[in-house]
Amino acid sequence: MTHFVWILCIIMIFMQGGFARLFYEIKHILDSKPDAMLLNAGDDFQGTYWFTLLKDKVMSKFINMLPNDAHTLGNHEFDDGVAGLVPYLEALRDPVLVANIDTSLEPTLNGLYKPHVVLERKGRKIAIIGVTTPDTKMLSNPEGVRFLDPAPIVKKEAQLLTDQGVDIIIVLSHCGLYVDKAMAKTVGENVDIIVGGHTHSLLWNGTAPSHEVVAGTYPEYEEADNKPGHKVLVVTASAFSKYLGYIGVDFDGNGDIVSFEAQPVFLNRSIPEDPEIKEALKPYMEKINEIVKEVVGNTSEDLSLNACSYGECALGDIIVDSFLDKAKQKNPTNSTSFSYIMKKMIRTDIKKGDITTGDIMNVQPFASVIWSYKIQGKYVKEALEESTRRSDLQASMPQVAGLKLTINTTSKEITVLVKKGDEWIPLEDDEEYQFTTPKYIKQQFEPLNANAKDISLVGIDFEIVKDYVKKITPINPLLDGRLTVIS
Ligand SMILES: *[C@@H]1O[C@H](CO)[C@@H](O)[C@H](O)[C@H]1NC(C)=O
Ligand SMILES: *[C@@H]1O[C@H](CO)[C@@H](O)[C@H](O)[C@H]1NC(C)=O
Ligand SMILES: *[C@@H]1O[C@H](CO)[C@@H](O)[C@H](O)[C@H]1NC(C)=O
Ligand SMILES: *[C@@H]1O[C@H](CO)[C@@H](O)[C@H](O)[C@H]1NC(C)=O
Ligand SMILES: *[C@@H]1O[C@H](CO)[C@@H](O)[C@H](O)[C@H]1NC(C)=O
Repeated sequence: MTHFVWILCIIMIFMQGGFARLFYEIKHILDSKPDAMLLNAGDDFQGTYWFTLLKDKVMSKFINMLPNDAHTLGNHEFDDGVAGLVPYLEALRDPVLVANIDTSLEPTLNGLYKPHVVLERKGRKIAIIGVTTPDTKMLSNPEGVRFLDPAPIVKKEAQLLTDQGVDIIIVLSHCGLYVDKAMAKTVGENVDIIVGGHTHSLLWNGTAPSHEVVAGTYPEYEEADNKPGHKVLVVTASAFSKYLGYIGVDFDGNGDIVSFEAQPVFLNRSIPEDPEIKEALKPYMEKINEIVKEVVGNTSEDLSLNACSYGECALGDIIVDSFLDKAKQKNPTNSTSFSYIMKKMIRTDIKKGDITTGDIMNVQPFASVIWSYKIQGKYVKEALEESTRRSDLQASMPQVAGLKLTINTTSKEITVLVKKGDEWIPLEDDEEYQFTTPKYIKQQFEPLNANAKDISLVGIDFEIVKDYVKKITPINPLLDGRLTVIS
């Protein structure tokens, strides 16, 4: 006799619009497949303003409206530190699974999560093991939580469950598609399915209806090194509630996969929004609107985005100055500090007059993580040179704080001075500096990516800019000559 298991998977819930639609679709599927399992692959606390503005109480209220069978934790769940995570986990009704963390130094988390759970469907035991990404250390603010390599932990847990006679084993992972595929291969001998999140990868056969890049077929398979012929199904479904992961697997009496049906559900406007959820979200939407309208400062002149393509601009100065200011508060150092972004990371203007929280969120809409790290001068110079050699120099135009940068657009040569005390001196190749940039910048430039040391979190871009606008308002935009572009 075979046994069919339906699994639905959600990743990175997007509240506005998306949640009511997601809820509708899950209910709709559960009406015809009441045994389907609903797994949450993490990052409920994402950088969008729902979480940032309303925090964990609202998130847990809505997440508890879904009949989740299990959650794992995403890196974003640690964004407000351990003190921010504890009340969220306490409020969640369904089990939270993370096998690869050690919270002995953060005992308030003890008892709020477990390594695995064994569920039953039609009398058949199904185990779920949770794991999350060790990169949380760099991406978020987990304080004393220690992260262990997920692969050996999955191997150990799956063996333990197999020894207990459980022959259907699912790994719920927030480690990213590439790690999930590697785990399927290296430690997948007792694992049947890996349901993942984190990399926002979309798996889809053919061209995706959302027109995003497709990272592979749905599902992907990997054969386990230690059990030839045993294939592990690996699925993930993008992010921000754009898709609902959907897979049905038929298992034989030994827990081996006989066949499967799989196709993620694209949650576009054809899927109705659940009216009850829409109603329940309403007061929060109003609250959000109030917060977004809050005046946090003012400027005597327009802060133009267009100007940022050609050289120094007041808007760029404010953003990088804010990153540098916050980095100095959060990660004090005796090293010379500077900061850098590219023009394309600034998304719109701010008009003369009052500046609201919403204005700042429109300028920095991606809720990017800002890091500071130690790095030698030569690597910073290589990264800046690379950005000025790009064919899209206007979009890649540097905006800098703590540096005096000259770019010759004909020769593509740059000169870089750094501020030491009150003096401007040349950047030294072997000197170690503190550099503060969005995570995106570090990942874009190999010299930074390969050589950054002691990475630590500064915060989320728009929150940092908002604090700084409050601090320096009223703003009378003046350029100070930190960037010179010779053409
Ligand atoms: C998608 O592609 C995979 C890999 O080739 C295959 O196993 C699966 O059946 C396909 N799914 C659909 C719905 O065609
Ligand atoms: C939603 O996506 C489906 C599947 O790709 C498509 O058939 C439908 O036309 C889309 N609806 C809207 C409103 O975009
Ligand atoms: C900076 O240098 C002073 C004097 O040497 C030292 O006391 C202080 O701890 C240093 N600060 C940091 C953050 O390294
Ligand atoms: C910029 O580079 C061009 C080409 O190498 C050179 O002719 C010009 O003198 C440089 N400009 C300055 C101000 O250094
Ligand atoms: C700008 O903000 C400052 C500081 O909050 C305030 O004193 C000033 O009245 C504001 N100016 C305008 C024109 O609103």
